[in-house]
Amino acid sequence: MSDSHLTFCFLSSILALIVITFIFTKRKKPSLNLPPGQMGWPLLGETIGYLKTYQALTLGEFMEKHIARYGTIYKSNLFGEPAIVSTDAGLNRFIMQNEGKLFEASYPKSLGGVLGKWSMLVLVGDMHRDMRNISLNFLSYAKIRTHLVKDVDKHVLHVLSSWKHNSTLSAQGEARRFTFNFMAKHIMSLDPGKLETEQLKTEYVSFMKGIVSLAPVNLPGTAYRKALKSRSTILKFIEAKMEERAKRVQNGDALEEDHDLLNWVLTHTNLSNEQILDLVLSLLFGGHETSSIAIALVIYFLPSCPRAMQQLREEHVEIVTSKKKTGEVELTWDDYKKMEFTHCVLNETLRLGNVVRYIHRKALKDVRYKGYDIPCGWKVLPVISAAHLDPELFDQPNQFNPWRWQGNNSKSDNFMPFGGGSRLCAGSELAKVEMAVFIHHLILNYNWEVLDGDEPFVYPYVDFPKGLPIKVQSYSSIKLPN
Ligand code: HEM
Ligand SMILES: *[C@@H]1O[C@H](CO)[C@@H](O)[C@H](O)[C@H]1NC(C)=O
Ligand SMILES: *[C@@H]1O[C@H](CO)[C@@H](O)[C@H](O)[C@H]1NC(C)=O
Ligand SMILES: *[C@@H]1O[C@H](CO)[C@@H](O)[C@H](O)[C@H]1NC(C)=O
Ligand SMILES: *[C@@H]1O[C@H](CO)[C@@H](O)[C@H](O)[C@H]1NC(C)=O
Ligand SMILES: *[C@@H]1O[C@H](CO)[C@@H](O)[C@H](O)[C@H]1NC(C)=O
Repeated sequence: MSDSHLTFCFLSSILALIVITFIFTKRKKPSLNLPPGQMGWPLLGETIGYLKTYQALTLGEFMEKHIARYGTIYKSNLFGEPAIVSTDAGLNRFIMQNEGKLFEASYPKSLGGVLGKWSMLVLVGDMHRDMRNISLNFLSYAKIRTHLVKDVDKHVLHVLSSWKHNSTLSAQGEARRFTFNFMAKHIMSLDPGKLETEQLKTEYVSFMKGIVSLAPVNLPGTAYRKALKSRSTILKFIEAKMEERAKRVQNGDALEEDHDLLNWVLTHTNLSNEQILDLVLSLLFGGHETSSIAIALVIYFLPSCPRAMQQLREEHVEIVTSKKKTGEVELTWDDYKKMEFTHCVLNETLRLGNVVRYIHRKALKDVRYKGYDIPCGWKVLPVISAAHLDPELFDQPNQFNPWRWQGNNSKSDNFMPFGGGSRLCAGSELAKVEMAVFIHHLILNYNWEVLDGDEPFVYPYVDFPKGLPIKVQSYSSIKLPN
């Protein structure tokens, strides 16, 4: 072979290599069709605008402007990562149904810091499944039917019976008192009003403040540092409870609090103390703040719609009247099931109030949806509230109109206040029972008006800046039909 031939071979193989490499990289990384959007400032991205406070009955200026400019799916840079924001109900459902396959939960690290690494919100995979199974056992339909309705009833009455005629009180504070008392009782048999319950509540409040603080840095004086301190105080509290239980078992004492979560976990699982703490905290976190704000929202919406108030009152008077005939006193699961119009009010409150605005996910693979690419590893934020306020899906979405839920529910596919898929809210039924039973006693016993024009805002958690002050009139002279 001649030199020139060798050189030719050499050159042509290099050329081939270049061509192959080019094709290969082209194949491997086809030009991505990312959704439109802007990445904002370095590091901060658009996070500040995204988290800016806005009125809770809207999607907020940031979201509205971005949707108008870019459409329902857009890219951004949020919480320090490139992100896809989805306000598309179809994509949101797709994301939730592909949990663990194409997407998985991915909450900011700071949340894991205070809630704990075993918290259900941050766990994924098998460990999430096991913890979820334990929670579902605690929150199962069977338990709600046999025990929880009755206990919810008792705790609602405990709070409402302290309301004085003509007094002014914070509806949100009262709703929190009710949901905290109920959860503390069911998790570790703490009784309302006792010193230890009040102490735990105080710690819990400081713990919550850290979770929702915007600057999750562990520096002296910050809410985040205080939350970490509260976390360890609460851990000690729960450990003391567990030791007490263990001692009683040793002494052969039957545990009277048979039905609480702590007992169930101690006798049915092998969870470590730390895992139990994180489970307790995630149930308190998931179950206290959310359902209390949902109750406050009902109290806020109803006075603006006297017709709904009237129809609710009729429904609940009828339930009480028919119970009187059979001599039954306590509310039951059957009563709850009879509250048809109440269920419309619950759905409408969750639709318009949007207690949880969006959830945190990340893409596990490159995903293509409606022609857009979602790159592997990117943050994905399904905005579940967007569909609820979409005029294409809900006629006059800004109106509180419980009647829209009557009869035809063809739109309920787009209604996802509790998320969906394998991470669907574990407490959704309990939350509805809490709301319905609260409404039952509230509407039968009181009239109320909202004071000071308080209204809900998104901070990004939903809250009433003044605590929703209301003036209550007791409604003792209910005219029962004969
Ligand atoms: C109106 C009240 C409530 C709303 C709007 C709500 C909403 C949600 C949403 C949207 C999720 C999904 C989070 C995600 O996919 O990343 C969730 C999860 C969860 N919720 Fe709720 N929730 C409420 C009440 C409750 C209550 C009363 C409890 C329990 C006592 C509870 C316990 C949980 C738990 C344990 C999870 C995690 C489930 C999992 O990861 O498998 N929630 N909730
Ligand atoms: C869930 O818990 C129940 C006991 O409450 C158990 O029988 C079942 O096997 C568990 N399922 C999974 C998937 O761990
Ligand atoms: C309740 O307040 C109204 C005025 O706000 C007053 O007229 C009425 O007498 C008060 N009733 C009682 C029982 O205090
Ligand atoms: C707990 O551990 C013991 C021994 O390690 C095992 O026999 C038992 O099945 C475990 N129980 C559960 C619920 O995992
Ligand atoms: C309320 O919404 C749920 C979906 O979360 C739906 O299954 C139910 O039928 C709705 N209830 C009413 C009364 O429309
Ligand atoms: C419910 O609504 C859908 C679409 O809006 C319509 O096709 C269907 O006929 C309606 N059903 C009833 C019972 O009104």
